[in-house]
Amino acid sequence: METFYVTTPIYYVNDVPHIGHTYTTLAADTIARWKRLAGADVFFLTGTDEHGVNIERRAREAGVPPQAWVDRIAPQWQALWKRLGISNDDFIRTTEPRHIRVAQQLFQTAYDRGAIYKGTYEGWYCSSCEAFYTEDELLDGQLCPIHKRAVQWTAEENYLFRLSQYRDWILRKIEGEPEFIQPDTQRNEMLSLVRGGLRDLAVSRLSVKWGIPVPFDPQQTIYVWVEALINYVTAIGYLDNPARYQRFWPQVHHLIGRDITRFHAVIWPCFLEAVGLPSPKQVWAHGFWTVEGEKMSKTRGNFIDPIGEITRLAEESGAEWDVAADAFRYTLLREVPFGQDGDYSHGALVHRFNADLANDFGNLLNRTLPIVERHFGGQIPAPGAPEGPDGALRKAAEEVPKAAGQRIGTFDFTRGLAEIWRFLGVANKYIDEAAPWSALKAGTTPRAGAILYNTLEALRIATILLTPVLPSATQRVWEQLGIAAPLAAQRLADARWGGLTAGARIRPGTPLFPRIEKTPALASAARPPEATKQATLLERSSGGRRPGGDARKLGSTTSSKGGTEMSEITIEEFNKIDLRIAEVLAAKRVAGADKLLELRIKIGDTTRTLVAGIAQQYAPEALVGRKIVVVANLQPRRLRGVESQGMLLAANDGDRAILLAPDQDVPSGLRVS
Ligand code: MSP
Repeated sequence: METFYVTTPIYYVNDVPHIGHTYTTLAADTIARWKRLAGADVFFLTGTDEHGVNIERRAREAGVPPQAWVDRIAPQWQALWKRLGISNDDFIRTTEPRHIRVAQQLFQTAYDRGAIYKGTYEGWYCSSCEAFYTEDELLDGQLCPIHKRAVQWTAEENYLFRLSQYRDWILRKIEGEPEFIQPDTQRNEMLSLVRGGLRDLAVSRLSVKWGIPVPFDPQQTIYVWVEALINYVTAIGYLDNPARYQRFWPQVHHLIGRDITRFHAVIWPCFLEAVGLPSPKQVWAHGFWTVEGEKMSKTRGNFIDPIGEITRLAEESGAEWDVAADAFRYTLLREVPFGQDGDYSHGALVHRFNADLANDFGNLLNRTLPIVERHFGGQIPAPGAPEGPDGALRKAAEEVPKAAGQRIGTFDFTRGLAEIWRFLGVANKYIDEAAPWSALKAGTTPRAGAILYNTLEALRIATILLTPVLPSATQRVWEQLGIAAPLAAQRLADARWGGLTAGARIRPGTPLFPRIEKTPALASAARPPEATKQATLLERSSGGRRPGGDARKLGSTTSSKGGTEMSEITIEEFNKIDLRIAEVLAAKRVAGADKLLELRIKIGDTTRTLVAGIAQQYAPEALVGRKIVVVANLQPRRLRGVESQGMLLAANDGDRAILLAPDQDVPSGLRVS
């Protein structure tokens, strides 16, 4: 059985968690879940980095002893991960005795082997901080960045690690193992750093009291970076659980941000080599997030608090909090190729929520289950013999687990998710084309059943594949599908065509991803400029109506007062409205709304749903087969739980909405201009 050990950096307890920290942990959680799904034996570690001068200082500012401070902050990190549903197997704190023991033992080993020697460390020292600073950390090249006071050039006697001696060894390793440091940009950076030469490294501090004492010289504490890196060895059981250590350590993947690659990919392997332990298998350094083009900083006040973002999305959409958390996670992983820097905006989150989760995933479920409920007594219909477009759907379903797995399993989340969304696209197209509603109308109920079975089977497979990225939402989809076997017990092998059991009782629920009806401000953040212009135009041409406006007027495109108060538009602006002839395939009343009808329409060879406020003028049966005119490129919106994917045109005098129709019979799909 494959073993897989993944770590996040251990987070400093002097900081509040923001999107950057959350990103590393969410990515690690996703890969851990993916590997479990693929059948591997996984160990996933995160934790907190609790020693060092900065934490000591932070505690002093708070007026509490360092231990009390770290005991206050560490649980907040644990609580954050719990709230986000992170599936870590352990949480290590560097102040725990288990870690102190391992750190001291490895430090002693390095000393005993002659890799650590006593020397002198020189640098810019701030006596208020009791800390050394490098030249580029100083303000104006001469002041302490914290106290804004002059620093002194100071020499401190301490212990140094013979890093320089490992230069050739680490260079050969990085050159010879292309996968050791990823992505390649980071690998190249490390190569040039190492080629430039390595200097011995001070690995103890006389001046820092808040740290783990050097075992052979307790006046000194172990340099916090070396000590912190050792956490990865401690937690897997180097001293406590040697069997587990043996099994997992050779498979360790350190997931980090690119600012700390040097520590993980150069210093750490050299130290491990010095104490006779194997190097990590891989160091994977992701990029940095900016927020709306700016670097995150406390002074700018643009720190993105993940909990705040998720709560805002949950409030805007009405989605459950844990589903909104999934959407946040999905957006971070989908938006930016792993390894590249990215820019975060709330608009991107809203866009992904609406376009990918509500439309492509959620809506496929929402449009399928009600038909099964109504026409098949809520039981999954029998599959039937394959015909027509069934083969293409099945083929896509058979290909997607491997295609997605090759990407996600190697940290390429963006392309892995694109593969799954490509498959969802095939499934959406399938139901449109196979049109179970037409089969029902034609009285070929078993065929309608087979189409629904195939669509639900595609959904089942997509749901299994999405568990690592949408752990909560997929659980809810699974419940709606009514599958008896627990989702948590599913493996990649279960994502095989035909696994859905006919006859099982579905459990339709409320839509998981209720579309966000955007305010204009949000709309412009989330949509490309073209689309925004187009929506604005439509709002104006319909008498200033907002997308979230009165549903009753939906069937109308002209103001009841006529056009005199409207501003002029150019022909180019008008041409942006995609007006089409459509044929009504089916119509029914929307439950609980006396003015609304839900229409299934056909535009050329595609079908879609429309909600229109014409129930008082038209009986549903009277509309079937009629040709109407629709706006085909209007942003979808949800009305009474039904997504309307367009708008029909009607003359409207305030009380009545009278349908526009072509003067002669013309095929559906024809452009109106
Ligand atoms: N304590 C050290 C790690 C020791 S590991 C043995 C540390 N902690 S940290 O809390 O400052 O940072 C933790 C992680 O957050 C790092 O991987 C860092 O790269 C990441 N990020 C911090 N800000 C970030 C962004 N703006 N964007 C993406 N990741 C960022 O370093």
